[in-house]
Amino acid sequence: HFDVLHFKESIDSTQLLAKSLINRTDEQFIVVALEQTAGRGRFNRPWASPKNNGLYISIVLKPDISLSEIIRFNLFMSLAISEALDQSFNIESGIKWPNDIYINDKKVCGFLTEVLSEDHHVTSIICGIGINLFDNDYLKSLGTATSIENESGKGNINIEHFLSTFISKIDEYYELFLSSSFDIIKKDWIERSIIFGKTIRITEMTRTYYGKPVDITDDGFLVVIDEEGETHKVISADIEL
Ligand code: BTN
Repeated sequence: HFDVLHFKESIDSTQLLAKSLINRTDEQFIVVALEQTAGRGRFNRPWASPKNNGLYISIVLKPDISLSEIIRFNLFMSLAISEALDQSFNIESGIKWPNDIYINDKKVCGFLTEVLSEDHHVTSIICGIGINLFDNDYLKSLGTATSIENESGKGNINIEHFLSTFISKIDEYYELFLSSSFDIIKKDWIERSIIFGKTIRITEMTRTYYGKPVDITDDGFLVVIDEEGETHKVISADIEL
């Protein structure tokens, strides 16, 4: 349940605005923008956010949970986002663990989960989501990205309509996250995952290796068997197909 939605035509970053508003209220809220001049992705990478090309969203939640639950939160959000995109645009998106949504092997949406905490207890979650709605030269030049327009053939996107579907999906899965373990969505999540049965390249802090994902644990670790047959439990790495 969200109390307020802040809508901006243009902003530095919805994450920054969300963070600056967090301590002024106990409410859960959403910031939406049509352009960002200082958008950031995971690992502080720049997130190109040109006008009329994407939708840039930050969701602020205030659950009563410990820091160790955040990975599980991320799994619920990935499913919510992928389902919302499919429902709204009649596409078939998939989850590229941990933080991307793909269509036809290309990235259409990325999200990140930032957390404020005290003594290992979460005080706020700021989940930032960037969706490529329309194609542009930059996206095309990447070769690894796509847009909703490109995949759905729809040039006419009703943002208000999408936001209402999107917000109710987030709401639904957030409530489920609060009340249930990962088990309840595991089957759906695995069905949407695009990495099982494929060889992926995993980059962790200090090493890179190849392996095949075989499972995901209830606390969100990806179980991977590497080329030597050794089993790894991977958390929040960078992976490439
Ligand atoms: C990633 O794939 O690295 C995650 C990208 C997250 C981008 C979103 S856009 C809305 C919010 N504001 C930001 O500056 N970043 C996130």
